[in-house]
Amino acid sequence: MQNRISKLFDTKLPIVQAGMIWASGWRLASAVSDAGGLGMLGAGSMYPEVLREHIQKCRAATTHPFAVNIPLLYPDIDQHMRILIEEGVRIVFTSAGNPKTWTPMLKEKGITVVHVVSSSKFAQKAEEAGCDAVVAEGFEAGGHNGREETTTLVLVPAVVNAVKIPVIAAGGIANGRQMLATMVLGAEGVQLGSRFVASEEASSHPDFKAKVIGAGEGDTILTMKQLTPVRLIKNKFYEEVQKAELRGADTEELKRLLGRARAKKGMFEGDLNEGELEIGQVSALVDSILPASEIVKKLWQEFQEALENPIKIR
Ligand SMILES: Cc1cc2nc3c(=O)[nH]c(=O)nc-3n(C[C@H](O)[C@H](O)[C@H](O)COP(=O)(O)O)c2cc1C
Repeated sequence: MQNRISKLFDTKLPIVQAGMIWASGWRLASAVSDAGGLGMLGAGSMYPEVLREHIQKCRAATTHPFAVNIPLLYPDIDQHMRILIEEGVRIVFTSAGNPKTWTPMLKEKGITVVHVVSSSKFAQKAEEAGCDAVVAEGFEAGGHNGREETTTLVLVPAVVNAVKIPVIAAGGIANGRQMLATMVLGAEGVQLGSRFVASEEASSHPDFKAKVIGAGEGDTILTMKQLTPVRLIKNKFYEEVQKAELRGADTEELKRLLGRARAKKGMFEGDLNEGELEIGQVSALVDSILPASEIVKKLWQEFQEALENPIKIR
């Protein structure tokens, strides 16, 4: 199926594997790109030279297009941008920051730029900044998220109405029926994060992956709204954050509690009590760790079946 998104990325399918800290390195990205989707490196947990290594390894592992996600608040952002240019990266997804700062430079170099948004207002800003597409990421999504709590079901049609550039839906998608639902709402592609954490190729710790497939409804929550909202699995670390917030801890105390390495500790080192375990609500529907190629194949098959028979009439 060819549409504006698959044409923009030159992929077989309008399926994007999200850039994710401590999960999406070159193994996952290249496997998804080989399977016909768009694989993506998550630069947010990589030092600049580590990012360079992952770009080179990804290029060696697949002949298909892949992307790099750059959270714009990253402290070494200048170095990351320099490496993207030097390594000839063709597609960049930016998030967590102002798209006006870097989009013009990236566009000048001929790079396709997509920005992640959580509201129609930010989608319009991304369009004005010259982005080629936006990812509309709803409240259900794993990882950092908007404060306004707009769900994918509301956000996608709102963003579709607000901009002319194509919209990729994210947040709460793990199967083909969910993919179809967002496309009925006007999305032209989907971005999946949590589903790909539970893949063989994700670089996340096996204990974290096991926790993800064991998670049920209500096991995740959007927390740390005062600092930077993030959806994670409720655990001991979350309870400490909760207690601190209840007694009115200020931003400085919360920053100290979060520290620098909580996310690495939880998702990469597998400390399920003390670490931060970022994952989306849809983990409740994910119950197996599969090869990334299987995830893409299954998603596409389910999507086509749903398309032929969209409504179950009983
Ligand atoms: C473990 C994890 C890490 C993430 N890291 C990032 C990141 O570094 N940059 C980013 O833009 N989004 C990040 N996200 C959000 C994803 O890119 C994606 O938009 C989201 O997971 C989609 O929702 P879903 O989890 O319901 O599929 C992360 C999500 C997860 C689950």
